[in-house]
Amino acid sequence: MANSCIVGLQWGDEGKGKIIDALTEEYDIIVRYQGGANAGHTVIVDGKKFVMHLIPSGVLHPGKCCVIGNGVVLDIEQLLLEIDELKAAGVEIGGNLFISDGAHIVFPYHKLIDSLSEKQKGDDKIGTTGRGIGPCYVDKMGRTGIRAGDLYFDDYFKERLKSILDHKNTMLTKVYNVDPLSFDEIYDKYRNFAEKIKPYVCDSVDLLNDSLKHNKSIMFEGAQGALLDVDFGTYPFTTSSNATVCGAPAGTGVSPKQIHRVIGIMKAYTTRVGSGPFPTEIEGELGLEIQNKGGEFGATTGRPRRCGWFDAIAVRHAAMINGADSAVVTKLDVLDGQKTLKVCVGYKSGSKMYSRFPTCLSAFTECEPIYEEYPGWDEDTSNITDKKSLPKNASAYINTLEILTGIKVELVSVGPDRKQLFEY
Ligand code: IMP
Repeated sequence: MANSCIVGLQWGDEGKGKIIDALTEEYDIIVRYQGGANAGHTVIVDGKKFVMHLIPSGVLHPGKCCVIGNGVVLDIEQLLLEIDELKAAGVEIGGNLFISDGAHIVFPYHKLIDSLSEKQKGDDKIGTTGRGIGPCYVDKMGRTGIRAGDLYFDDYFKERLKSILDHKNTMLTKVYNVDPLSFDEIYDKYRNFAEKIKPYVCDSVDLLNDSLKHNKSIMFEGAQGALLDVDFGTYPFTTSSNATVCGAPAGTGVSPKQIHRVIGIMKAYTTRVGSGPFPTEIEGELGLEIQNKGGEFGATTGRPRRCGWFDAIAVRHAAMINGADSAVVTKLDVLDGQKTLKVCVGYKSGSKMYSRFPTCLSAFTECEPIYEEYPGWDEDTSNITDKKSLPKNASAYINTLEILTGIKVELVSVGPDRKQLFEY
């Protein structure tokens, strides 16, 4: 069976949730491999909106096995909320949900340090989602984290939490000048949480590899996007995990040889939430028009997303790192009615020209986009259900994106609903 990985090719919010939901039927297992509750994967079914932050987007399909992999940082409070919300909406959550015993737990001190460190950075802040993601990954790499499985070894958990919290409290009181956190409160709360999630916690590495032996197929669900990847994105204005396909083997314990296909999701234009360079950003009226028409407000934080023209250099870089086999273009309908569409085909900085994505932030910050312009279309594309019915200029625009990014477009999405999707 072929296994696929779905990744974002921009700065996140490409519409991965909807596409994962649409493709779920082809797979037995859907596994999240990185990130945490910073993600907000939206799926709309018959006008009803579901936003998943931690649970894989395939959960809306009965009978599919949904796994939160070891590479995810798990905010149990958020997870329990999400389970309650989905259950209340009639979605099955039970034997279909599995949580890796190797997933690192997000604790209250992670969230607190996330917000305090952002405050301290002032104008240089990253603009994080405030979900404690960075501090939790810092502890993972610094080997001072606590994993889901550790919660069930009480002596170990208690001692480890105590020593970690001592250190965090020194930091909170001495560096950030705030009150220390109470060990008893956190310990009791997380002991209680541990009992609540116990039915779902398992050795996900064995589960996934055993499933492969039994010819089950897996979809690896990426969160955020390539340009937010901690290694290949606009560092340090990135998230703290590998949001490219590179994160999937490490975040699941499945060999990279088992990922047969990579599908990249790209919006017909570009958006970015939080700080960091964004050469094709559209300032003023037009930027706001696209923001409103595209509903470009964060699914996790509600923050308005910055909007800009399609950046073919950035997407080509993302496609290369991911080895994307094909792409899905989303939100094409948002560009309906634009007279002219710009696409970035290179950058310039003084007399220097770039045809590739620069690694260093200082170089990228100074880059100005070099644009090519294409004619837009007046027609409403949101009701279109096949490639042949697309306005001529819309097809030409997609063909241009294929040429400039080097990836074949296989699907086009023209609205938020499951049904607004067709083969290209
Ligand atoms: P963090 O992941 O909360 O640490 O935030 C780091 C950066 O990644 C910030 O600019 C966030 O806005 C951005 N970010 C994190 N998750 C997402 C996402 O799911 N979509 C878009 N941007 C995100």
